[in-house]
Amino acid sequence: MGSDLLELVDVEAGYGRAALVLRGLTVRVPPASVVCLVGPNGAGKSTALKVASGMLPPRAGRVLLDGQDITHHRPQRMLTAGLSHVLQGHSVFKEMTVGENVLLGAYTMRDKAAIAERVAFVKDLFPVVAQRWTALAGALSGGQQKQVEFARSLMVSPRVVLLDEPSMGLDPKATSTVFEQVVRMREAGTAVLMVEQNARRALETADFGCVLDLGRVHISGPAADLLADRRLGELYLGNRRTDPSSA
Ligand SMILES: Nc1ncnc2c1ncn2[C@@H]1O[C@H](COP(=O)(O)OP(=O)(O)OP(=O)(O)O)[C@@H](O)[C@H]1O
Ligand SMILES: [Mg+2]
Repeated sequence: MGSDLLELVDVEAGYGRAALVLRGLTVRVPPASVVCLVGPNGAGKSTALKVASGMLPPRAGRVLLDGQDITHHRPQRMLTAGLSHVLQGHSVFKEMTVGENVLLGAYTMRDKAAIAERVAFVKDLFPVVAQRWTALAGALSGGQQKQVEFARSLMVSPRVVLLDEPSMGLDPKATSTVFEQVVRMREAGTAVLMVEQNARRALETADFGCVLDLGRVHISGPAADLLADRRLGELYLGNRRTDPSSA
């Protein structure tokens, strides 16, 4: 195995006694890259992220971070190892301030100087976080709240951020901002494993893409190749069969 930062290898996982959701899933995230998982509802995209962050122990297969086997580490240990997970849906505490929400991301950190340095970093990366630091998070728009979540996830200086449907429920302008922020995270050296319904926009942002179906990777490769793939265009990207320009 090469120099991938995060690897899910032959992962099998599911919930309780129900049938397996992931059936031999392999996904690789190179350093400082954006990898996007796309696929239909229920394909197992969120489940894959839960396995990666230790929320759901797999029944088989391995999770490797920088070549180290972290498969059965608990979520807190995954976080300290450098994996931060932004869950599907909104998850800011609306009755707390933006600053308090962001600082929740530093709960495993002891060094006050390091915390102050990260606060400065996320304020620089997300201007709205700096501008609204003392405002109640619930007073922000959905897109602004998403940036508060991103800022919180970056407090621990993660090596990989797992983003589950970051554009869910956002209008087109806020969606654009979210994807721009994903690019800035990568530029800042953080790798991103992202799940998106908005497959076209996500693949335009990503370096690599994986299409999940029935719990395993159906098609994968450089994001630009997937965008140009006719089968994928018809199934997931809204390309019309009758549109000659998509041929
Ligand atoms: N906590 C849970 N308990 C039991 N079954 C679950 C649980 N979470 C997900 N599942 C099941 O696992 C399968 C995959 O779900 P998952 O949330 O990973 O899909 P997804 O690809 O993220 O879908 P979506 O696009 O709708 O978010 C589904 O059949 C779902 O019903
Ligand atoms: Mg999901």
